[in-house]
Amino acid sequence: MPSMEKGLVVRHLQVGQDLFEMELITPGMVPECQPGQFVHVQVGQENYPILRRPLSLYDVDRHLGSIVFLYKVVGEGTRLLSKVRAKDSLKVMGPLGRGFSLPKEESNVLLVGGGVGIAPLVYLARVLVERRCQVRVLHGTQTREQLAAFVKLRQIGVQFMPATVDGSAGYKGLVTELLFKKIDPAWVDCIYTCGPEPMMARTAAFARQYRIAGQASLEEHMACGVGACLGCARKLKADDPGYAKICKDGPVFDLDQLDWSGI
Ligand SMILES: Cc1cc2nc3c(=O)[nH]c(=O)nc-3n(C[C@H](O)[C@H](O)[C@H](O)COP(=O)(O)OP(=O)(O)OC[C@H]3O[C@@H](n4cnc5c(N)ncnc54)[C@H](O)[C@@H]3O)c2cc1C
Ligand code: FES
Repeated sequence: MPSMEKGLVVRHLQVGQDLFEMELITPGMVPECQPGQFVHVQVGQENYPILRRPLSLYDVDRHLGSIVFLYKVVGEGTRLLSKVRAKDSLKVMGPLGRGFSLPKEESNVLLVGGGVGIAPLVYLARVLVERRCQVRVLHGTQTREQLAAFVKLRQIGVQFMPATVDGSAGYKGLVTELLFKKIDPAWVDCIYTCGPEPMMARTAAFARQYRIAGQASLEEHMACGVGACLGCARKLKADDPGYAKICKDGPVFDLDQLDWSGI
């Protein structure tokens, strides 16, 4: 059950260009938090802006009772969030949405993230390693300064394969080129992806070509975050009769529920 909690900010650091990592003590919601779920954050200290902003669970520390976000400043709400200081409190509602379904223990799992879309895949990586899965993470960004998740992924103990468009770290080019060129599909039991939709569309094409099961985490503008306003409704496939609410039916969906042929 989602709860509303006032979280104490214990850490808030800039970890790259326009990229911040924030840790909040929220012991009430931590036991409920599943990878792929998100939290709705009141970004300002006053009641402005009125709408909360959705952020993925980037990591969860069950011993400390804390949740961690990795976020990029893109507009007014995230700019206000970046001004919050350690020892401030923030109202958060969560955990919300349907997270990732976990594979069998000891599976070989491939995670493909683009930009700040890596955020939900990091907490997923932690839980997969606890299930004794072999995990490889492909992360694509424009440049090496945006690869901040590398620090946590190394600590979790997964194989990390970066791709940067400018070639400043790892493979030079798109992460989906790295996927098609360097990953042996026979190794992969399942795939999880989050990031820009063209990247997820290529990743889904790889999964379909080699008949690999997988899931993707979608993003939509959100208002209520709990399925009450239809603000996030979209068709998953062009010919679907109805609309899915990304906040409540997702944000995670099976790859075969989605159709990116228009992208
Ligand atoms: C389930 C979910 C999980 C998310 N997790 C993270 C995360 O872990 N880290 C992170 O940095 N961001 C995440 N986001 C995106 C984040 O919520 C938005 O970047 C944020 O709400 C923007 O608020 P703003 O006021 O700064 O920008 P606004 O002024 O509202 O918008 C600035 C720009 O960002 C675009 N934008 C705003 N919201 C979204 C959205 N939901 N999807 C796509 N584009 C958007 C706007 O169209 C505009 O171009 C997530 C979104 C969802 C739906
Ligand atoms: S944001 Fe209100 S229904 Fe999804």
